[in-house]
Amino acid sequence: MLIYGQTMETTPIKSANSDSMDQIKSYIDKNQQRFLDELFVLLRIPSVSADPKHAKDIIRTAEAVKERLIAAGADQVEILPTGGHPMVYGEKIIDPKLPTVLVYGHYDVQPADPLELWTSPPFEPVIKDGKIYARGSCDDKGQMFMHVKAFELMMQTGTMACNVKFMIEGEEEVGSSNLGPFIRKYKDKLKADVILISDTSIIANDVPSITIGLRGLTYVEVEVTGPNVDLHSGVYGGAVANPVNVLCKMIASMHDENNHITIPGFYDLVREVGKEERSEMNKAPFDLEVYKKQLNIGDVQGESGYNTRERTSIRPTLDVNGIWGGYTGEGAKTVLPSKANAKISMRLVPNQDSDKITALFQKYFESIAPKSVKVKVMPHHGGNPVVVPTDTIAYKAASKAMEVSFGKKPLPAREGGSIPIVALFEEVLGLKSILMGFGLDSDAIHSPNEHFGVFNYLKGIETIPLFYKYFAEYSK
Ligand code: BES
Ligand code: MN
Ligand code: MN
Repeated sequence: MLIYGQTMETTPIKSANSDSMDQIKSYIDKNQQRFLDELFVLLRIPSVSADPKHAKDIIRTAEAVKERLIAAGADQVEILPTGGHPMVYGEKIIDPKLPTVLVYGHYDVQPADPLELWTSPPFEPVIKDGKIYARGSCDDKGQMFMHVKAFELMMQTGTMACNVKFMIEGEEEVGSSNLGPFIRKYKDKLKADVILISDTSIIANDVPSITIGLRGLTYVEVEVTGPNVDLHSGVYGGAVANPVNVLCKMIASMHDENNHITIPGFYDLVREVGKEERSEMNKAPFDLEVYKKQLNIGDVQGESGYNTRERTSIRPTLDVNGIWGGYTGEGAKTVLPSKANAKISMRLVPNQDSDKITALFQKYFESIAPKSVKVKVMPHHGGNPVVVPTDTIAYKAASKAMEVSFGKKPLPAREGGSIPIVALFEEVLGLKSILMGFGLDSDAIHSPNEHFGVFNYLKGIETIPLFYKYFAEYSK
């Protein structure tokens, strides 16, 4: 086999486990400071996809990712336009006969506010207690960049066992709505044997896991309008419907006393998870007291008949993400507002369908509105739920890779978050994804003080080359 690499001192592929582990570990040891420095450069650019003020930062980040891919040895590296923020593409085809891994990740991040709750500025990364603090450190710049560094490692050590294609997008955090058309357009270019994504979590650093399920999502905004202007709440209060009161009542009525969602048909397509699978998933360690303590809550709540872990993985939800209306400034103003609004998200599980649930929500919301108000439902974005089969060579390769790097066989685990593109990949490219993330639930993604363990970052860089190795081996 040919040896690919940028330096002349590359070493050929070794088949023995320990040899390849030594090679990976020593490369990481020698380069870890640079791996961190390079990630910090990316973390310093505030690539907030939701905010048009950061449009230039999005482009700067795409360019920085492109530069890093070129430096690591990728070919055909380009920034491809989409209907929204651009995609960074790059590839290395070392031998068309070898399997091809399509790496997906995102370089955009969530807004950093509320800023005052950060203990260090969100776009000035620092390491504290072995963790990298910065917006995007875990979700997903840190995890995406592990793949670029693992690729560099394989190139430099002459151990590339698969072809690779990178597809790093800039609008995951706003729903990836331009990605469907993009992957349809570039269907041939994106041809691969498996999709590899690090944008999820492990159970704990000593309990590795592979994500085998993601929830889907439907996101809507609602508006309730009462009188045509804000009114004096003394003169009109009691006689004219208050849209904020009405909206609260409507939202409250969407859960019954068992915390079931009351939208007719909402559960029709939900595939109930069997006893056996539930008892299997409940074997993974989970401490409810620690969970409550971490969040500083007196108790948990949720759908009756299910425990906390089940509620956040195998069950659908409906949550208000934000609600506003009326007077929220300093002091008091006695007003009966004209309008009330809310943003509502529903997490979906197999086999619910995002579009169908959006339609059911809309119909129900309109049906429960009293005559005294007008309502509007504005769908935002969505995505379908995902299940990853565990009987594929790709899953077995990921499992083996983690077993070797963590020294412990990973557990399969379903997670509550959503990555809308995963279901689309399956639909358009006919490809299943491997969700091999290295974050922790406690990394505060989307929250103030997001962080990512240096251990996790380096463990990712260590594990990814092993995935390539075993995927190539098992594909033979
Ligand atoms: N990386 C997350 C999804 C995630 C987090 C999956 C933790 C599993 C565990 C992703 O960036 C994300 O935040 N997705 C959004 C959906 C998107 C449409 C805004 C989500 O889940 O809210
Ligand atoms: Mn993410
Ligand atoms: Mn996210």
